Amino acid sequence: MRDTPNLRIPGPTPVPADVLEAVARPMVDHRGREFAALIGRVAERLKEFYLTKDDVLILSASGTGGLEAAVVNTLSPGDRVLAVTIGAFGDRFAAIAETFGADVTVLPYEWGEAARAEDVSKALAGDPAIKAVLVTHNETSTGLTNPLEEIALVVREADRLLLVDAVSSLGAIPLDTDGWGLDVVVTGSQKGWMVPPGLAFISLSERAWKANESARMPRFYFDAAKHRDLLHKGQTPWTPTVSVFFGLDVALERMAVEGLESIHARHAAIARTVRDGVKALGLELLVADERYASSTVTAVRCPEGVEVKALRTALEDEHGLVVAGGQGKLQGKIFRIGHLGLVSEDDIRHALGALAAVLPRVGFNIPVGR
Ligand SMILES: Cc1ncc(COP(=O)(O)O)c(C=O)c1O
Repeated sequence: MRDTPNLRIPGPTPVPADVLEAVARPMVDHRGREFAALIGRVAERLKEFYLTKDDVLILSASGTGGLEAAVVNTLSPGDRVLAVTIGAFGDRFAAIAETFGADVTVLPYEWGEAARAEDVSKALAGDPAIKAVLVTHNETSTGLTNPLEEIALVVREADRLLLVDAVSSLGAIPLDTDGWGLDVVVTGSQKGWMVPPGLAFISLSERAWKANESARMPRFYFDAAKHRDLLHKGQTPWTPTVSVFFGLDVALERMAVEGLESIHARHAAIARTVRDGVKALGLELLVADERYASSTVTAVRCPEGVEVKALRTALEDEHGLVVAGGQGKLQGKIFRIGHLGLVSEDDIRHALGALAAVLPRVGFNIPVGR
């Protein structure tokens, strides 16, 4: 057993000790000079990770708040929207748009499959009234990364808005906001950023700000224009989660030291170790086409005769390994191993060792020779 649990869920992710220490700092005046310097610093740093020249707004909310902000700040009730969905979070993005009165057409895929740019292109060509496309970059429920750059290309060609859920990708998987022409990009502090839950980040392109001027969906707490105006004064419209900002400051410094490319390479290498490891145990990945397998979370089919709940309980109780179950229609069918943010090859070796020890006891015989 390790001293601390091996938290291998796709968020909240483990938080480094120096970030935890920062989170415990005494409060400051959120309208004072120290906070102004802090928010200015982290907002500038975030732009480097987003690869954007535009402002990155920092909302005190979880990722879902960021998705809601993306929708309500760019659209009006009745606007036609194409929601590309490959899993639970794609469905959620569509549901948010519907809740606020958008006229949503869903482009659904089997859970475990990637979206295809040509389908998006066809859907847009067939419906010139579609104003915006919603897409999940990394579908956490299935462990799949969509070919976002290709999708963005066809959305740009069709000249529509592209709103991206990058909650479990940004900061861990390559994403080029300005280079790919992404209009709104949302992520959350508790994922690749190694920070506790409590902050959502959202960028808006010039096109998105233009849409914002005429967007009539109701909004108050997540009003992007208010957040932008106050950000320029070193503040937020409402009381922010100050402690999480303290943590973010330290985490972004760590990430800057490691460097974006090294971070991406580490995630890709670790994900490969996870996939090779689970396959070596005789298990099957949900994502059959590994070109789309996520670098931040791996979904593994639970073998016949094994109960996901029993497996997870034994892993946690006997080995201090915490993995996630399936969501929605994949509940009871898969388990998911998170490997984003603070994660090392050692963590993965421990996780694979725990699986090898527990699987035979919960009903799965690891094939001989593995
Ligand atoms: C892809 C994706 N989108 C949205 C969310 C929702 O974020 P939150 O739970 O922080 O509201 C998550 C969280 O797991 C996610 O992985």
